[in-house]
Amino acid sequence: MRILVTGGAGFIGSAYVRRLLHRTPAPSAPAAGPLEVTVLDALTYAGRRDNLTGLLGDPRLTFVEGDIGDAALVRRLLPGHDHLVHFAAESHVDRSIEDAGAFVRTNVLGTQVLLDAAVRAGTAVFVQVSTDEVYGSIAEGAWTEDQPLAPNSPYAASKAAADLLALAHHRTHGLDVRVTRCPNNYGPRQYPEKIIPLFVSRLLAGRTVPLYGEGAQIREWLHVDDHCLGVDLARTKGRPGRVYHLGGGTELSNRELTLRLLAACGAPEDRITLVPDRKGHDHRYALDWTRSRTELGYRPVHAFPQGLAATVEWYRGHPGWREQGAGDRRSQDRRSSDRRSLEPQSLERQSSEQQSFDRQSSEGQSSERRAWDRRSSEPRSSEREPSERRSWDRLSAEQQSLDPRSGEPEEPEAQQEDSPRPGRTDSP
Ligand SMILES: NC(=O)c1ccc[n+]([C@@H]2O[C@H](COP(=O)([O-])OP(=O)(O)OC[C@H]3O[C@@H](n4cnc5c(N)ncnc54)[C@H](O)[C@@H]3O)[C@@H](O)[C@H]2O)c1
Repeated sequence: MRILVTGGAGFIGSAYVRRLLHRTPAPSAPAAGPLEVTVLDALTYAGRRDNLTGLLGDPRLTFVEGDIGDAALVRRLLPGHDHLVHFAAESHVDRSIEDAGAFVRTNVLGTQVLLDAAVRAGTAVFVQVSTDEVYGSIAEGAWTEDQPLAPNSPYAASKAAADLLALAHHRTHGLDVRVTRCPNNYGPRQYPEKIIPLFVSRLLAGRTVPLYGEGAQIREWLHVDDHCLGVDLARTKGRPGRVYHLGGGTELSNRELTLRLLAACGAPEDRITLVPDRKGHDHRYALDWTRSRTELGYRPVHAFPQGLAATVEWYRGHPGWREQGAGDRRSQDRRSSDRRSLEPQSLERQSSEQQSFDRQSSEGQSSERRAWDRRSSEPRSSEREPSERRSWDRLSAEQQSLDPRSGEPEEPEAQQEDSPRPGRTDSP
């Protein structure tokens, strides 16, 4: 069983890869043969190779640094994989309000490239990982999977477009597409621009937290490992052309969540700074997840109080993580400094990557694979093939355009604390 995971260096994708490598053979059918996982990730500001720490030495894992929008790369990479699980996305609503371009390129066009390649390659199962935000906002009750899509933010619109394209490829080409939709995730390794890692980072640094409006918006919180459980059940037990809601989290207003984070960090209530509400802010999302419970046997297992406490402790224990830029130009700086720091990889990992390559070679993989694997440990653009280089260069340009302040000097710390920032948010 060979599985391609896009966005596997991000928050949820890396948890999913960890699950696959730790939990196999269950729930993958033993009859499907030994597991091999390929991660395809462009390592944008939100993706880190560090998120796969402890896994990169696993000979079953191959890491490919590349853009899902690079059709030539995807068409070469995908054949030979049985399943594709698609997490890669631009995922932050506030960034989509600033500039929706990258969201359309990655979430819509990138998904279309993957779907097209999957049809060509005869990929057996394509899992499209999506969000409850595609339905818009609901005052009470919960959406079933038949609810028409009515997204409000550019992020949600790009995810809705991707879902519809995926389902259209099922209807038109017979591709076995399964779409999963879930609420807000929490857990370790989330980039500190989303509410939990952002607020914990600021509170532990003795700073205030910027809460939108009065904090009245209601969100459901699902542990990232429960989400990954549901995605894998959809992959292994789902039906073609079906949408599955992976709910069962805990509903809280943003103010209630903030109070819990203050308590977990031992911070007083006057650390809350109310800031003007997000444009077009959805009030509430809610999923009816009866289908995934009855058809897939899905049931989340993480209790929110313990899960949140463990999450806060993880961020407390990873000060380096907390110091990443929260939606500011340090994101761009970090991207290059990460690559520098990752180039001299440990000999152990390089040799395991080599073993992984050698094993694939001996199984008849093309020599192109060698270039991808080498690039994942030594990203030097001069060595890349033209299409890969274009993709890389475009990605860097996008990264700069994402940040309207990228050419400006960094603000003094005190101003960052008190002014509303693109990094503040209450939902992905
Ligand atoms: N975080 C949530 O609460 C949440 C909730 C519902 C659904 N989702 C969905 O789950 C998926 C994963 O979300 P996340 O929170 O892990 O996101 P993330 O932003 O943490 O990670 C996204 C990953 O995709 C990679 N990526 C971005 N553009 C790419 C491109 N063009 N080519 C290849 N890789 C690219 C990034 O480098 C990163 O590793 C997304 O599709 C998102 O819409 C997330």
